Amino acid sequence: MTPQRNITLVVDGREIEAIEGEMLVDAAKHGDVEIPVFCYEPKLGAPVGACRMCMVEIEGMPKLQTACSTPVRDGMVVYTRNEQVKGAQNAVVEFLLVNHPLDCPVCDKGGECPLQDISMGWGHGRSRFTEAKRHFEKPIPLSPLVGIDRERCILCYRCVRFSQEVAEDSQLQLLERGDKSYVGTFDERPYIDPFHGNITELCPVGALTSYTYRFRARPWDIEQAGSICTLCPSQCNVSFTVRDEAVKRVLARDNPDVDDGWLCDRGRYGFEMLGGEARVRGPILRTGGNPGGASWPEAIERAAAGLRRAGSETAAIVGDASNEEGLLVQRILRKALGSANVDSRLAGGPEREEMVKLADPAISARVADLDGAGAILLIGSDPLHSSPILDLRIRKAVRRNGTKLAIATDRPTALDGGAAAVARYAPGKGAAFLAELGSVLAAGGEGSGPVADVAEPLSDAEDVVVVWGERIGRGESGPAAIEGLLGLAEGLGMSGKEGSGLLEVPDLTNARGLREVGCLPDAGPGLTETEAGMGSAEIRDALEAGDLRAVILFGVDPLRDFADLAGWKRALSAAEVVIAFSMLENETTAQANVVFPLESHAEKDGTVTHPDGRLQRVRPSASRPGDVRPGWQVLAELAAALGDETGIESAPDALAAVAEAVPFYAGITDAEIGGRGVRWQERPAADTLPRGAPPRQAPDLDSMASARSVQSSPEEGIAGRLLLGTYRDLWAGPITELNPALRFLKPAQRVEVSPGDAERLGLGHGDHVLVGSNGSRVEARVAVRERMVDGACFLIEGTSEGNANSLLNGGGGVVSIEKVGG
Ligand code: SF4
Ligand code: SF4
Ligand code: FES
Repeated sequence: MTPQRNITLVVDGREIEAIEGEMLVDAAKHGDVEIPVFCYEPKLGAPVGACRMCMVEIEGMPKLQTACSTPVRDGMVVYTRNEQVKGAQNAVVEFLLVNHPLDCPVCDKGGECPLQDISMGWGHGRSRFTEAKRHFEKPIPLSPLVGIDRERCILCYRCVRFSQEVAEDSQLQLLERGDKSYVGTFDERPYIDPFHGNITELCPVGALTSYTYRFRARPWDIEQAGSICTLCPSQCNVSFTVRDEAVKRVLARDNPDVDDGWLCDRGRYGFEMLGGEARVRGPILRTGGNPGGASWPEAIERAAAGLRRAGSETAAIVGDASNEEGLLVQRILRKALGSANVDSRLAGGPEREEMVKLADPAISARVADLDGAGAILLIGSDPLHSSPILDLRIRKAVRRNGTKLAIATDRPTALDGGAAAVARYAPGKGAAFLAELGSVLAAGGEGSGPVADVAEPLSDAEDVVVVWGERIGRGESGPAAIEGLLGLAEGLGMSGKEGSGLLEVPDLTNARGLREVGCLPDAGPGLTETEAGMGSAEIRDALEAGDLRAVILFGVDPLRDFADLAGWKRALSAAEVVIAFSMLENETTAQANVVFPLESHAEKDGTVTHPDGRLQRVRPSASRPGDVRPGWQVLAELAAALGDETGIESAPDALAAVAEAVPFYAGITDAEIGGRGVRWQERPAADTLPRGAPPRQAPDLDSMASARSVQSSPEEGIAGRLLLGTYRDLWAGPITELNPALRFLKPAQRVEVSPGDAERLGLGHGDHVLVGSNGSRVEARVAVRERMVDGACFLIEGTSEGNANSLLNGGGGVVSIEKVGG
């Protein structure tokens, strides 16, 4: 990297220090000089100089220049407010307003509109045009979520550049030419893309507005409150627009270390459920099968009584929870009840020693490392569905920085198109792939075939970031997969190398934080060794068998999201006490004896830990509905009722307890976390990560031999039987169903098969089929997909109908497909 050189320039008579090569518009800000811009937005990549609003005079240059696309040099002398520049600024504003309707009083952007501000600050205040303005229908739906008021558009290209250069969907175009130009899509098709809501924020005028916010509020009756979106592990930084104590809009809060200033549409539009019908608004007790509202003391005492009876025969599974809540749940289990049966891994996964090795700061990558990586290996995850903002980040690295992307997954991903190499393995064969990849890399990356193709960009690159999906660490071959990852880290020399490392894509938003505060059956806070307890699947079996009597389900819905739905139904029916903490009513809360309401991410005060180790603060922005109380408070009261006085009486107390319990979070405070978060690996306390684990053994390649076949075996794909893979679709789940704006995206179940299998099994795209395993069946439509591995098929988990989790029932992962009526 070329070292940055500080230079000096003079802007409007002021001497300003800047970095050589910085754009003049940014450099001027160091001297408090504002140059007006419309099209300039560094998040969109290189400047395009489209609007001409940023004209300035530079000594020695014959004509005015655009400050947004002029890099600064030492000794430059610039004028931003002399007569010539003012004339140009006035002319641009006057020109932009020729057709602009000036309907500010009814425009949603009014009061927070750059065009208003710039017209007032840099315009002439008078127009010479008296001709009729252009008129269009208002608004024209650009998508079911975004409308466009075309006459307000100033043709700055920002939305089009987002579509083409950030989301890379290329759906938005500038159509026609000259004064007829307008923003639209090919054939007026709706703009459907999971990130498209970002264009409403990019638009510097009120041309693009969200239907969810249009005419809902004015800038003087709203407040902005910064928090974190906890709807997926990306943990994007958001700013909630709050009116009358309720969230009305979600905006991005730029944090280049986390989200690059973008949001996905789930996070942006997934707020209407916060005040929806399905919210649990107070404690509920089930007496004789009938649910009824209860006071807090009653509910706490009923829950405590049940837990006291069950004692150490209690288990807990923690999902949507902050670090503070996770710490308290495991404390109730371990300290108050004497049970080690606590888990936050929904379907098993790495054990403590492996977690400790994976957490080693020397091999941990930061999100921002993706930007400068020479190569990225994406294995076992499709970020678009599991952590959407990472999808954009990886695209950015490939497009802007020439990063080589290698992909190895069981199912086609949204990133395949931009990858230098793509390899597919059969479901469950991630460990085998990693073992082969390790061997090929050890042999210098030579060879041919998909594994060698993936190895090539990795062996050539200086810095490699491996983005891996939590799911490859599950099941029988899970330990081998983790060994494979650690082997890769060693083989690629990641240890201590700046810019390289492993980055996990977990299933749960706060998976990392929950593990680190002790929500694991074999690790306490700080990943310390503890007495071993049961994991999620064992908890299910033990409840059914009567070996466990009570279960606390904190922010999880096993009757929708866990494997073996029928098994979980039996388990919850057999349990004497089911205590569900939930934000929303669901099938699990319907089975619970006691239901405690949970806060949403707009109401909670607590911390979460990003998959790259960054602790971030979720701040209360809106009012809690009904009788909802803070989770830490309910848990502290429950612990007290069980005889364990935690001394936690406030949210800061709860964070202090986390900082005390987890040695490598020691001393962390709200002030240190601030608005940007702080990575624990970059604090001195990181040295306290347990080091007791023995040095890593080289992966035992022979023991992986049985898993060596990266493809499915022929027997697995005969006579209509295929190996089943499942995945979480971005749009499958309550967030889509409970937010009216998103409902149109709710996916119907579909079974994806390769063209070869479709032909062999006589299946056509759209055929109605039954997919069955071990006595359970789900209905689906056939989707024939290119780039699928033969012998396997994929279904979506967590759909409201035909949920694939019902097939994950010990049937060996093999399913039959029968045509309905065929
Ligand atoms: Fe720019 Fe908005 Fe017009 Fe798009 S719609 S070109 S963002 S003014
Ligand atoms: Fe929220 Fe995830 Fe979307 Fe970011 S990517 S806005 S964290 S749901
Ligand atoms: Fe410079 Fe648009 S901001 S040309």
